[in-house]
Amino acid sequence: MRLPNLGWGLLGAKPRERDPVSRQRICLRRFAGPATYAGQLDHLRIAHLTDQHVGRVTPYAIQREAVTLACAQNPDLVVITGDFVCHSQLYLDQLTELMQMFTVPVMAVLGNHDHWAGAGEVRVALTRANVEVLTNQHSTITLRHQRLQVLGLDDAYTGHADREKAVRGLRLDLPVLALSHIAEEADGLWRHGVPLVLAGHTHAGQVTVARLHEISVGKIAGHKYIHGLYGSRAAHEPGHPHATDPRGAVYVGAGIGAAIIPLRLGKRGKREVTIFELGTLPGTFDEPLREQAAFRGRKPPAELVERRATAVATKRQRRARRRTLRFPAL
Ligand SMILES: [Fe+2]
Repeated sequence: MRLPNLGWGLLGAKPRERDPVSRQRICLRRFAGPATYAGQLDHLRIAHLTDQHVGRVTPYAIQREAVTLACAQNPDLVVITGDFVCHSQLYLDQLTELMQMFTVPVMAVLGNHDHWAGAGEVRVALTRANVEVLTNQHSTITLRHQRLQVLGLDDAYTGHADREKAVRGLRLDLPVLALSHIAEEADGLWRHGVPLVLAGHTHAGQVTVARLHEISVGKIAGHKYIHGLYGSRAAHEPGHPHATDPRGAVYVGAGIGAAIIPLRLGKRGKREVTIFELGTLPGTFDEPLREQAAFRGRKPPAELVERRATAVATKRQRRARRRTLRFPAL
């Protein structure tokens, strides 16, 4: 005997199908690199993660899941654009352990939270896991017999970025990829012929329903680049000086963790691992997001940048004082 369907059919409604993106805890997005790389690189795969904020707010299982997801894409190189910690140095061992899960080279820059918690100590925790931390400098890495310059700007939010220092000695005959916690630094890097900058910091606003992120990150915080791809990946005209045609692209990752509230709502606000296929022309495969127009943005006034830098110094002094009180003999 055939039993009646007592499920959704009886109520005259089908179970609501959730699209694959909303079911995933971490979103995986894949993009082609800028056209400039097409003649220079033969399919290098870069995995980009940002704003992991290892600590109490983000479950460690999610951190491991993000690293596992990135590794499963078989990248040639992993790049991370800062905010490894939240507010303290309590989870640095966990950070080292997490970074040791990567089986390919990892290059990184620091973010504002790393400076607030102690840039020196975060750098040591990363270096212990063989992560190369770039501080206003560039380094050439050879991946599958191909040379790639990776430029890393220190955190601009706390006033530690020094672009002129970072681009010194950059070779225009070799491809270059740049990392910066703050995406707006891309504008200046494009003028130096950097065709792609990867960034973080905004967490895509975390709550993107009803375009709330455009208000919180765009209007209130004054960011030009909130989440996703901005600028252009089209190639420069041959022989065109970069300074007069500052063409380039910037990608702002949504990040993995959070420093205060773990809430993430809306497709664009999901935790994210991003893959870039360098050497592959844009348009070769379908991409999940289009290049978008930048928001108006607002440059932080010099006094504010100064205040942020002072806050880092004050926190450093407080930590030193506490250490002296606890370990007077040191
Ligand atoms: Fe962050």
